[in-house]
Amino acid sequence: MSANPLAPSWLAVPDDANGLPAAVWSRNAARSESGELTIAGVGATALAERFGTPVYVVDEADVKARAAGIRASFDREFARVGSAAKVYYAGKAFLSTEVARWVTDAGLNIDVASGGELAVALAAGVDAARLGLHGNNKSLAEIDRAVGVGVGAIVIDSRIEIERVADAAQRHGRVQPVRLRINSGVHASTHEYLATAREDQKFGIPLADAADHVALIRAHPSLQFLGLHSHIGSQIFESDGFAEAARRLFALHAELLEGGPVPELNLGGGFGIAYTSVDEPLSIDEIAVRFADIVAGGAAELGIPVPVVAIEPGRSIIGPSTTTLYTVGTIKDVLVDGAATRKYVSVDGGMSDNVRPSLYGADYSVRIANRASDAEPALVRIAGKHCESGDIVVRADYLPSDVRPGDLVGVPATGAYGWAMSSNYNYLARPPVVAVLDGEARVIVRGETEEDLLSRDMGVTR
Ligand SMILES: Cc1ncc(COP(=O)(O)O)c(C=O)c1O
Repeated sequence: MSANPLAPSWLAVPDDANGLPAAVWSRNAARSESGELTIAGVGATALAERFGTPVYVVDEADVKARAAGIRASFDREFARVGSAAKVYYAGKAFLSTEVARWVTDAGLNIDVASGGELAVALAAGVDAARLGLHGNNKSLAEIDRAVGVGVGAIVIDSRIEIERVADAAQRHGRVQPVRLRINSGVHASTHEYLATAREDQKFGIPLADAADHVALIRAHPSLQFLGLHSHIGSQIFESDGFAEAARRLFALHAELLEGGPVPELNLGGGFGIAYTSVDEPLSIDEIAVRFADIVAGGAAELGIPVPVVAIEPGRSIIGPSTTTLYTVGTIKDVLVDGAATRKYVSVDGGMSDNVRPSLYGADYSVRIANRASDAEPALVRIAGKHCESGDIVVRADYLPSDVRPGDLVGVPATGAYGWAMSSNYNYLARPPVVAVLDGEARVIVRGETEEDLLSRDMGVTR
């Protein structure tokens, strides 16, 4: 079958429109003998019947394996270059108490970006010393709580925060370890990076001002300087942007060593994952090898000890684990410019459970989940049910052309920034998050009800 001319150039007609490419689907996704999608041995139909749709289905063993895998790869590679690595899971990608426990049990720390994320990590029983707090505008209350509970690191993002954190530490009688976030001028996404003198964005301190800021930090007896921090972007497939940022930070890192200890260097997160069959991110093993080489090489060039490196991956740990199941409601074959037809398949969720396609133009994949089919593939667009024409879940993929109302469809790789960025637009209730493991399913975050939706409206009479 030839490609539909409305398909993007990267999208080929699949040999098997029922196939589940291993790079895109969670490790324990499979087709049963009857053709149904199963995740960790639990069938899509049973999940939909028990929990309704939409539902986020998290492959628990997949998350645990990725968390343990990244820990092992970075431990191994940084031991090779005579140093060590600290891995923080970036909770902004998705955080619940269960997930906090899964990743900390695997030896990871957690990076939180607000008082709310801090509260979830603490509610999970995570030792505060294993938490890092981020944010370009932390409130005084957030800083006070973080210092008071003893978070292991606060990433200072502006000059004004130095005093705020120092004051809080003094009040609590603590010495607070801090990092300084640097605006390195390097920004990366997928295959390319851009390097400027200074990136035009809100995060961090310009490189040129960093030494003064570190001097201010060091002048406070209530602060301990851990090192520099840089995060250059997200969904990155290559290591050259990280190498450029590390190169820029290293010169400063070496200079700072002359004034006192700089034990760590934080290179942030942003490792890419596959959302479609053409995405080919580096493996975590390969990233660890390259990071260790970059850092050891930079240290050797400047004749300084290899620092302990911290990283903050979110998407690469949780993203591939989750599949969102939807029910197909309506289908329209839309003839475009009289030339070709695009099948609009509308589902019972949309931009409220996954805003990334409408926010960033992100691409996803889709498969029929309740059955397999031999019908010819047809180009589809999976649309949501919101009152926005930009409410798209999957911009383009091929599904068997007999897809019909009542079918379940599965959209893989929705674990990162899906639930975390969900909303109640059009008063849709947020779907539940269900963990599946060894043939069992359990709710880890319950879905909202109509009562939840009305509960904050003070005019409701009961
Ligand atoms: C400072 C910082 N660290 C880590 C991350 C995690 O990025 P990713 O989920 O792409 O690994 C982000 C994401 O925005 C971030 O801003």
